[in-house]
Amino acid sequence: MIEVNLLARYPRAKRDVKARLGNKEENRTIAMKFGKEYFDGTREQGYGGFRYDGRWVPIAEDIVRHFGLKPGDRVLDIGCAKGFLVKDLMKVCPGLEVFGIDVSEYAVTNCEPEVIGRVHVGNATHLPFPDHSFKATLSINTVHNLDRAGCLQALREMERVAPGKGYVQVDAYRNAAEEKVFLDWVLTAKTYGTPEFWVELLKQAGYNGDYFWTILEVDPAWTITN
Ligand SMILES: C[S@@+](CC[C@H](N)C(=O)[O-])C[C@H]1O[C@@H](n2cnc3c(N)ncnc32)[C@H](O)[C@@H]1O
Repeated sequence: MIEVNLLARYPRAKRDVKARLGNKEENRTIAMKFGKEYFDGTREQGYGGFRYDGRWVPIAEDIVRHFGLKPGDRVLDIGCAKGFLVKDLMKVCPGLEVFGIDVSEYAVTNCEPEVIGRVHVGNATHLPFPDHSFKATLSINTVHNLDRAGCLQALREMERVAPGKGYVQVDAYRNAAEEKVFLDWVLTAKTYGTPEFWVELLKQAGYNGDYFWTILEVDPAWTITN
């Protein structure tokens, strides 16, 4: 189990944290349904338009290199949304057998054409696959959407289908300033904490894969004084 940032080449986004402060509870309720509003509604309720733009290609390259993946290997993306990473993994490593699972019927129904039949509606807590059935599993910014018991269950499931060959990335903060920015921005996460909190949880789950954090850094322009 190592800490490694496989999203190092993901573009940095500037977030208007203040804009999310109005109607926060209402927007959270809508976002947590993971429907059209979350993916293709407003930025206050989610992504504000979740469209393929190729940004996952470099990350897919790094994932293939990190796990030593080759044609014929099976990979599962848990929380795959519309299947952007599934598509790009197959693009950068032709012959790789990549599948995805996501709780959102909207995302799966509106997936990229190249991944139809490879992405399915399902829950991270109950992967419909036998033990040891994947060479690697990925779960990016998804597991934290479950409560603590759900997180433990999802991590155990990753370990079950690909022992020691997971990559999980979750929301975290390292200090009070980052925690405040995170709490102002967050819509869907139910479980969050410091990297140390997460390492304990990963250990408790018996998870032996790799991991990293999504941390919203503090930008002075976002500072909220009250
Ligand atoms: C922040 S998005 C991340 C999507 C994609 N992995 C990415 O990084 O762009 C979180 C995704 O997790 C999915 N999700 C939330 N809870 C889930 C669960 N219990 N099982 C599977 N997917 C879930 C949502 O529908 C959504 O697609």
